[in-house]
Order: sequence, then structure tokens, then C-alpha cells
Amino acid sequence: MTQVTAYRAAILHSLGDPAQVGLEASYDYYEDGILVVTDGHISDIGPAESVLARLPVEAELKRFEHKLITAGFIDTHIHFPQTEMIASYGEQLLDWLNNYTFPEEGKFADPAHAQRVASFFLDELLRNGTTTAMVFGTVHKASVEAFFAESDKRNMRMIAGKVMMDRHAPEYLLDTPESSYIDSKDLIERWHKKGRQLYAVTPRFAPTSTAEQLGMAGRLLAEYDDVYLQTHLSENKQEIAWVKELFPERAGYLDVYDHFGLLGDRSVFAHAVHLEQAECERMGATDSVISFCPTSNLFLGSGLLDLPEVESHQIRVGLGTDVGGGTSFSMLRTISEAYKIQQLQQHKLHPLKALYLATLGGARALSLDDKIGNLAIGKEADFLILDLHATPLMHTRMNNTHHLFELLFVLMMLGDDRAIAETYIAGNRQYRRDKDSE
Ligand code: GUN
Ligand code: ZN
Repeated sequence: MTQVTAYRAAILHSLGDPAQVGLEASYDYYEDGILVVTDGHISDIGPAESVLARLPVEAELKRFEHKLITAGFIDTHIHFPQTEMIASYGEQLLDWLNNYTFPEEGKFADPAHAQRVASFFLDELLRNGTTTAMVFGTVHKASVEAFFAESDKRNMRMIAGKVMMDRHAPEYLLDTPESSYIDSKDLIERWHKKGRQLYAVTPRFAPTSTAEQLGMAGRLLAEYDDVYLQTHLSENKQEIAWVKELFPERAGYLDVYDHFGLLGDRSVFAHAVHLEQAECERMGATDSVISFCPTSNLFLGSGLLDLPEVESHQIRVGLGTDVGGGTSFSMLRTISEAYKIQQLQQHKLHPLKALYLATLGGARALSLDDKIGNLAIGKEADFLILDLHATPLMHTRMNNTHHLFELLFVLMMLGDDRAIAETYIAGNRQYRRDKDSE
């Protein structure tokens, strides 16, 4: 039987990139709005008065006081196996990987461990209002199997992949070019486009793959034209120098990936904070994507992404938390750090641009904007009920706001998981903060 539910509250969603369409055309806002969901998809949206007049008689109406409905957040780069090592002290990238990350990822040889962490991780995303993410597993095929099984259970739209790494890591974390190819292929056949799940070919980064293995990654992309690629790029200066030593025959870091056919409109490169001009141009020309990971770039002391600069090369950009290099699952906190990173470079990050990056821009970065990213009619109903008064400080500050942009900015600077009252996945509530109310 058709199920129709109408949600009444203030509604805000992104319609476009303010840099392309201007601020006013970049959003829709209804102070008293209604969002209608029919069988998991958005079927109507608008001012309450007009939507009420055309609402089907069978619709169930839910009303929220002092809440804001938005699209679910999209995290374009995160590592589920690093959940239990977030906030590891003292190192920059390469030592952080060797001292903390690799030993932690070794635990995922045990499928039961992978299943437990995947379940916790997905619940943590829901608690933070993240409804889609692009996710690294570990080298172990079973880690990704466990992840997709848990994601499928929650009907979340997730992109994930098995890490390919055949050198420069402990023996217990290494695969081979052949085994990584076979395991990835098997996972693609089992999970890509099964329900809402999507696959990303996942070479960790150039230093941990031989040329032969990067060739296998390229072969997978050539064989499956709609799978994704995710990896890391130009995150840390020592890392970049190391890549140049390992691949002296290539023009630079990006050219290593380019040589093996890894660039393209479904290829997402995390960080890219130290790109050279020619690399920016090549990223733009191939329609490759950058995942901007503010809390990670600050935590690991990696560097500052110049957002207007990379966008001037027509590079699509999404936001990522990069947990456990990043320090928060919250896209609100991630936005807050993104704002400060732009401040340090004398750039402004407008709250509507930040909303765009965390929702529709993320969907565009992942080529999923025909399905998710805003509340347009026909899209999958992944949305949030935000509590603008979640803490005493937010309450008192919100009462002193005078404009929508100001309200949104305060939410972004002060908000975190406490501001997520409810999270809906394809029209079903998968998280509710106040379990004892209602
Ligand atoms: N580069 C290679 N592996 C990783 C990782 O796990 N995290 C981050 N931030 N950078 C990487
Ligand atoms: Zn990462």
C-alpha cells in the first residue's frame, strides 16, 4: 500500500552552487513548509498553505516546533575502520599511518570485528545526520562485505571499497596486484548497485601500491564504467616528496594516477591541498573531484585547501570528515573548520555555500545529484530534522538572530550531533535523538 507522510516545519534546501547561480537562486526556504514523502521518495514540497490544499487524504501529517528540515549530509571521504582510533596523538601523516592506523586496520582480519565496527560507524553517521558517505574499508575483503551488509540493512546509500595496498605497510596488511583485482571484482559483482550500495575501487595512495597494482585499479575502472575510484592525493609535503622518489618517471603525484587511467568524473581524491597549477588544470579537464577534509588537514597538520583557487579550475569539491585522520563525524563541525581554513586565507565561506557543499555539492561530487542532495520532487527521501535550539548556548544565540543566513551560520558554528533531532533514510526514520519523548 502506498504510504504518504507529510512533515511540517521550516524547510531549507540547496538548489545550486552560489558561486554559479548567485546566493538568492541557490536555495529554497519555507518558514512554514511541508515536505511530502511517498514510498521513500519526495513527492511534494512547498509553503504549508499550498501543500495542505493538495495533500492526498490518506497522508499522515507530522508537525515539528522550532525545527528545520534539510537534506541529509553527504561525507565524501571517511574510513570506517579508523573509528576506534580517532584522536590519536602527536603525529603527521606518515608516522600517524605507521604508528596508529596500520595496527588498527590489522584488527579487521577478523570479520566479527569488522561487523561490529561497521554497525557502530553507520549508527554514528546517522546520529550526525550523514545519510551518504564515500567510505574506505581495509585491505581485507571481509571488511567491505561486512560494511555493505550493515549499510544495506539500514538502506543507506553508501559508496565503499576494499583498500588495495601491496607495499610499504606491515606484511599483515598487504595484498597482491592479482588478489586485489580478484577481491575487488568479486565485491563489485556482489554489491555494486545492490539496493543503494555502490562500489569504489580503492588504491590507498600511490606509496602503498606498486605500478602493477595501480594498473589493476585502472583495469577495473575500464571494465566497469560506472564504479567509482577513491584515493588520497597531495595531502602532506613529505608524502609528495616520497611519491616523486617512488615514481621518478612521472611528472608529479597526480600524473602517477593519470598514467594508470585513474582520473575521471567518478574519481574522488581526498585532500589535494598542495596541488600545482598544472595539476589543478588536469583535475578540471578530467572532471576529477576533490574531497576537502578540514578537520583532518588541521589535525594532521597537512595544509590548507584554497577553495576558490581549485574551484576556479572547474574542479568539483565535496566535504569529507576523513575520520580517523579527521576529528569529528559531524558535518556541521566540519563546515565550521572549513570556514576557519578559508578565513586563514582571506576567503569567505558563506553559510549557503557551506550548505551546498555538505548536501547538493556533495551529491554532485559523487555524481548522485539525480537521486540525493536536496529535497527536489522525485529524489530519495534522505533528510534531517534539525534542532536549532539544541544547547543552551545555541538557544540564546538563535534568539538573537535576525536573518536566515545568520541563523544558518550560527547552526554551523555551534552545532554538532546534538543538533540532529531525527535522521530519515529513504523516508524511514533511522535515528531519533530524544527516544523518550513523543
Ligand atoms: N593517506 C594514505 N592513507 C591515509 C589514511 O588512512 N588517512 C589519511 N588522512 N591519509 C592517508
Ligand atoms: Zn583518508
